[in-house]
Amino acid sequence: MDAAPAKKRALERLDMLYALGGGRGANRLGGSDAEQQACEIAAAWMEEAGLEVEWDPAGNVVGRSIGSQPDLPEVWTGSHLDSVPAGGRFDGALGVVVGLEAITSVGACERTLGVVVFRDEERGCFGSRAFVERGSLPGYYVEVHVEQGPVLERAGTPLGVVTGIVGYTRREAVFEGKAGHAGTTPMAARDDALAKAAEFVVRVRDAAAAIEGAVATVGSLEVEPGAANVIPGRVRLTVDARAPDAERLDRLLTALGLDPEPQNAPAVMDESVRAVLREEIERLGLPPLELPSGAGHDAGVLASAGVETGILFVRSLNGGASHSPDELTSEEDVALATEVLAAALRRLAG
Ligand code: GLV
Ligand code: MN
Ligand code: MN
Repeated sequence: MDAAPAKKRALERLDMLYALGGGRGANRLGGSDAEQQACEIAAAWMEEAGLEVEWDPAGNVVGRSIGSQPDLPEVWTGSHLDSVPAGGRFDGALGVVVGLEAITSVGACERTLGVVVFRDEERGCFGSRAFVERGSLPGYYVEVHVEQGPVLERAGTPLGVVTGIVGYTRREAVFEGKAGHAGTTPMAARDDALAKAAEFVVRVRDAAAAIEGAVATVGSLEVEPGAANVIPGRVRLTVDARAPDAERLDRLLTALGLDPEPQNAPAVMDESVRAVLREEIERLGLPPLELPSGAGHDAGVLASAGVETGILFVRSLNGGASHSPDELTSEEDVALATEVLAAALRRLAG
């Protein structure tokens, strides 16, 4: 396939997906009509590329290029098409669009190649978890994803190989108080749920700051009844706590009084897949930089289930801005990622 139209097509497809949910940024929340529409569009692209398309019971979509030895374990690439509210153009969508371009350019191999769209990644990798729970796993999974951080941009290099993915947990916490009149209730007589929640928010920040490499965020807070002249009676908030290894994650969750069993255990990427990605990056005359991922990915779910898994990171510009409309990756870097992914899939699929 001619590289120039493929490069242009990838960016046009990202634009098309970006526009789906309307509003500022990407708005394709897991389970929304916009996510469903994105999956249907991707399925149509897969069919157009001559792939065999299958929807599984969780709504994950996979397009397969059947290998000459279809009984061998399959080699998959892909990512997700849901987004956070007001998200970026590349998070998830890049891995699907580039995965499809790469599979199309590789052509027939011994093993079957697949490009997959996993559903509802942002809220907890629901699609990939359902896929793993069904037990029908491929042999290899290689995901292309934007870095969502500043490391590659600072290093002045377009591609990186992920060593492992942080472990993380997301929980909801509820603080109860007593709603009352903001003007007539003396300070000493108040039971203000938001004041309790505020203390917890500071504790979350301090607990993470005390552990090297750990991060924790209260990103959503609902105050009831939510009026300027009413003392808050109830607050519901979310905590997202992450650390690079099991020991530090355990310390963090314990310090926050949260269940120490992580929802997503830290995941190590497969060394043989990493080596293939490093070699293919070097073949382009680029340094094979390796780095950990502070973001969660469907690849982590597959790796934890025993699939030989790797992630190729693509440079995020704008200081690594992500989960925001400021997310930016260049057309040239997208083309390089497609080339490395295609070469890696070709090698893994024989
Ligand atoms: C997924 O984007 C995450 O929250 O890490
Ligand atoms: Mn993502
Ligand atoms: Mn994301």
